[in-house]
Amino acid sequence: MSVFTAAADQSVCAPLPVLGRDVTVPLVTGGEVTYAALDYAASAPALQRVWDDVAAYAPYYGSVHRGAGYLSQLSTDLFENARRTVAEFLDCRDGDQLVFTRSTTDSLNLLARAIPADCQVFVFETEHHASLLPWQDARVTYLNAPRTPRQAVETLERALADRDPHGPALVCVTGASNVTGELWPVRELAAAAHAHGARIVLDAAQLAPHHPVSVRDLDVDWVAFSGHKLYAPFGSGVLAGRADWLQAAEPYLAGGGASRKVTRREDGGVDVEWHETAARHEAGSPNVIGAYAIASACKTLTEAGWDGLVARERHLIQKVRTGLADVPEVRILSLFGDDAPRVGVISFVVEGWNSSHFAAALSAEYGIGVRDGLFCAHPLVRTLLGSDPQTQGECGAPEAAPGEKSLNAIRVSFGAGTPDEHVDRFVRAVRELVTDGARWKYRTEDGRCVPAV
Ligand code: ALA
Repeated sequence: MSVFTAAADQSVCAPLPVLGRDVTVPLVTGGEVTYAALDYAASAPALQRVWDDVAAYAPYYGSVHRGAGYLSQLSTDLFENARRTVAEFLDCRDGDQLVFTRSTTDSLNLLARAIPADCQVFVFETEHHASLLPWQDARVTYLNAPRTPRQAVETLERALADRDPHGPALVCVTGASNVTGELWPVRELAAAAHAHGARIVLDAAQLAPHHPVSVRDLDVDWVAFSGHKLYAPFGSGVLAGRADWLQAAEPYLAGGGASRKVTRREDGGVDVEWHETAARHEAGSPNVIGAYAIASACKTLTEAGWDGLVARERHLIQKVRTGLADVPEVRILSLFGDDAPRVGVISFVVEGWNSSHFAAALSAEYGIGVRDGLFCAHPLVRTLLGSDPQTQGECGAPEAAPGEKSLNAIRVSFGAGTPDEHVDRFVRAVRELVTDGARWKYRTEDGRCVPAV
């Protein structure tokens, strides 16, 4: 089954310069090391070029769509050009609308408010919370976790075949899992949705930073992603796709910018004509710096060349997976199996270790930043761990004795700015911690595991 096409056998490009690449952090054991940011799946560092572009624009900052002054005109042009650049990056169709939001979560909540009243929504229980939770007010069907990409398509087809064929329906699916990094068969899921008269929204939060996304080629109706995972951490996100449901919906926020004309009625009330463009869902002063930063990141990634970027990430994934495979106590979490195509997001547990304790030791003793926990994808991580949702883990001491189930996991994630040294250090650190144990004592403080001193 095809998942995504990506360059094979390409030469690996150099890491792209990112902010913080020279930042050093103290170690509890003494001395300092360069910080190894290996939590890209939560927030990726800003590309240096994004930062430079934002800094160059900052003196010219002005209001968007509402000022007569030169800087206001300039900022409006820049904001609208950013919209075109991002639409091009996503390979949107003519007539698609691109709305700037705050994040993927915001984009999917916007869409959830824009779906027709009787819309049926289908979402896999394996989604992260941004795409799992916004549909609570709709007629939502949660689909069981599939164990292969083919099973995902078959599960969806069965659910759609059973639905009321006359009403509108929407499928929400992730492009790459924020837990396993595995790619989902988006093209096939889109074909299945359309064959049953449903629409589909792609959550590309973890896909867009690692892989080209073409709305046209994948044939998805909408796509959502966040700037802060795409090397543009300035509080902006994107929802792009079909205009009709967005134009028919009530504005996401009521206020200036979304309204074209507002008049008092004779009965004392107020009549509003709302815009039908993207502005309808962008009330208030737009985040021009956030939009500009996303556009700058899109240009930088495109100019760097996806083939080299994808090849570099595969090279890093290979290093991490091979390194972890050498440590028998490590179990990598996977839904689709070892051979599944994936991006640079890998979650695992270590036998005999509490994951929070392990992550704290990686930070305090090696200067490595990873994430531990359930990654805002509680049902998926619990399924992968086989753990009981009622049990809470305490960090600070090894909790999962050999043979016992861990209650949370450790996630390492990386991308275009990651040098080889960071993943090499990570693999060495895992091996040393498992073999020699932590060199420091840890305790729990405000629910987090921290060095005892
Ligand atoms: N979805 C984000 C993460 O995986 C919050 O860290």
